[in-house]
Amino acid sequence: MIHLKHKNAFITGGTKGIGLGIAEALLINGISVAFTGREQISVNSTEKALKLLADEHNTKVIGLTADVRNYEDMSRASDRAMQALGPIDCVIANAGLGHFAPVHEMSLEHWHQTIDTNLTGVFYTLKVLAESLMEHQGYFMSISSLAGTNFFAGGSAYNASKFGVTGFTQASMLDLRSYGVKMTTIMPGSVSTYFNNHQPDDSDHWKIQKEDLGQIVVQLLSMHPRSLPSKIELRPTQPPSFKR
Ligand SMILES: NC(=O)c1ccc[n+]([C@@H]2O[C@H](COP(=O)([O-])OP(=O)(O)OC[C@H]3O[C@@H](n4cnc5c(N)ncnc54)[C@H](OP(=O)(O)O)[C@@H]3O)[C@@H](O)[C@H]2O)c1
Repeated sequence: MIHLKHKNAFITGGTKGIGLGIAEALLINGISVAFTGREQISVNSTEKALKLLADEHNTKVIGLTADVRNYEDMSRASDRAMQALGPIDCVIANAGLGHFAPVHEMSLEHWHQTIDTNLTGVFYTLKVLAESLMEHQGYFMSISSLAGTNFFAGGSAYNASKFGVTGFTQASMLDLRSYGVKMTTIMPGSVSTYFNNHQPDDSDHWKIQKEDLGQIVVQLLSMHPRSLPSKIELRPTQPPSFKR
């Protein structure tokens, strides 16, 4: 079993949803966390709640305002994270969004927003932290999607971005594994979050919950260095369409 205490994680898009679930699980397990979002995080109630959790578990947390589409933002955020916590040895490239429309109705703005956030944002995240990961035999995980392996109507931009993330993470894993860096693409199905303006409620009971993603990340980090699950498909066990 690998000891998780004293690790330092950087999570993009930790203000809500999956990123928040992962931040909570890491803090509880002794890992300090820097998380990002587009909004002014210093006035964000999420940061206050995470600070209470961090105090309880003797860890640190810092919220950083940074848009994953902006390389300067990401460079500044990674520097500030390392100043506050120390070297980063765990990175979760999670920030993402979805725009869905038939391809002939897909606007240029929505296309670029999807690709720039979901795909280029993952590249920028690795680019600014690769050196620290290589120096400290760290772990990089990207949150892709089942949409990164199954395509569907209306998904041209989202599928393109998530197929891209899956391919990017797998190819980068081949580049960095010899430095001792682990890389995993996590590909969830439906998760109860605020994705695409959804409001989580009781009808989401069948969906994967954000804490389930937190649990998977902790389990991956706990795995022996010699083993690497490089791609994980995560499904709700009983989606309504599969009910008998
Ligand atoms: N929910 C699902 O069913 C599902 C399934 C498979 C994969 N995923 C993937 O999971 C990831 C997280 O989504 P979610 O479901 O947790 O959605 P969510 O609840 O809407 O959370 C999205 C997070 O991404 C952040 N974000 C969005 N654009 C950003 C940008 N340009 N720069 C920095 N942060 C940004 C948001 O922060 P701010 O709004 O504060 O900026 C927020 O923290 C995404 O990559 C999504 O594609 C979701």
